[in-house]
Amino acid sequence: MTEHVTIWEMGPRDGLQNEKAHIATTDKIRLVDMLTACGFSKIETASFVSPKWVPQMADGTEVMAGVARARGVAYTAIAPNLKGYERAREANADAIGIFGSASDGFSRANVNCGMEEALERAQPIIDQAREDGIPLRGYVSCAIACPYDGPVPPGTTARIAEWLYKAGCVEISLGDTIGAGTPETIDAVLAATLDVVPADKVAGHYHDTNGRALDNITTSIARGVRIFDSSIAGLGGCPYAPGAKGNVATEGVVELCESHGFTTGIDRNRLAETASFAKTLRQNEGAA
Ligand code: HMG
Ligand code: MG
Repeated sequence: MTEHVTIWEMGPRDGLQNEKAHIATTDKIRLVDMLTACGFSKIETASFVSPKWVPQMADGTEVMAGVARARGVAYTAIAPNLKGYERAREANADAIGIFGSASDGFSRANVNCGMEEALERAQPIIDQAREDGIPLRGYVSCAIACPYDGPVPPGTTARIAEWLYKAGCVEISLGDTIGAGTPETIDAVLAATLDVVPADKVAGHYHDTNGRALDNITTSIARGVRIFDSSIAGLGGCPYAPGAKGNVATEGVVELCESHGFTTGIDRNRLAETASFAKTLRQNEGAA
């Protein structure tokens, strides 16, 4: 039987959050609608963080309200605190991503508190989401290395992943935030994490700073991971991880997975059209 790989499209959130120049809400909505037409079942559509920190994502409510929702597609968002969670819930996010980090330096730069405190802050969101019946996805940023603290021990990543999983996150996304991973380091982090979180609950979220993300996906497939986060046209980066490039480009992930014999459910012609449109939104070419 042919196996399926789920591609969680990140462009509208992880991609566009890094663009400095204002992008019109209508263009964000158009991008999501085009992605829906490509056949994605998961689209990270918005971010409900502080607009003082990431002004580009301030229109999350309008974007979520404007997209034409297709049946069977989850339109997801991220939230760093209860306020963000409530905004995401109000906007009818189908799942909400919460912030974990395997390094202290990145956590402080990204959410203004250390990595342990970030977990404490996640607890009220977890409690509320359980009451509301909204699925949570736990992100573990800097799963491999941190732009401030350097290499991260695999055991630390596994510990944060386990905490988020045991707390009730339905899926754990391992973020190679600065694209430092190699097949060897990804394999080591998966070896540690898959001891504590089942492989079908783990996603690979690899940025492509050093051009190794596709190799890292191949390694992850061999370890049994079947969910990958990627960004149309490789849009993005992280505003709090200097030098980090975007997620691995979705077009490459679809091609790789299908060449390994997996189905993705993505229409490649529509994907190419969507990538062309996404490129017109990117103004940070060459920026740090
Ligand atoms: P803070 O300044 O410590 O928090 O920031 P605060 O509570 O003092 O709030 C500051 C102001 O923001 C206040 O407004 C709040 O009301 C408001 P004021 O009273 O001054 O007028 N505020 C909000 N407004 C709307 N929605 C909210 C919200 N929260 C506060 N949710 C905070 C702490 C966590 C809020 C901030 O650090 C933040 O928003 N950080 C998010 C940064 C971010 O978006 N980073 C990129 C996403 S993470 C990522 O890309 C990694 C990932 O892709 C995986 C990977 O690659 O590794 C997921
Ligand atoms: Mg990311």
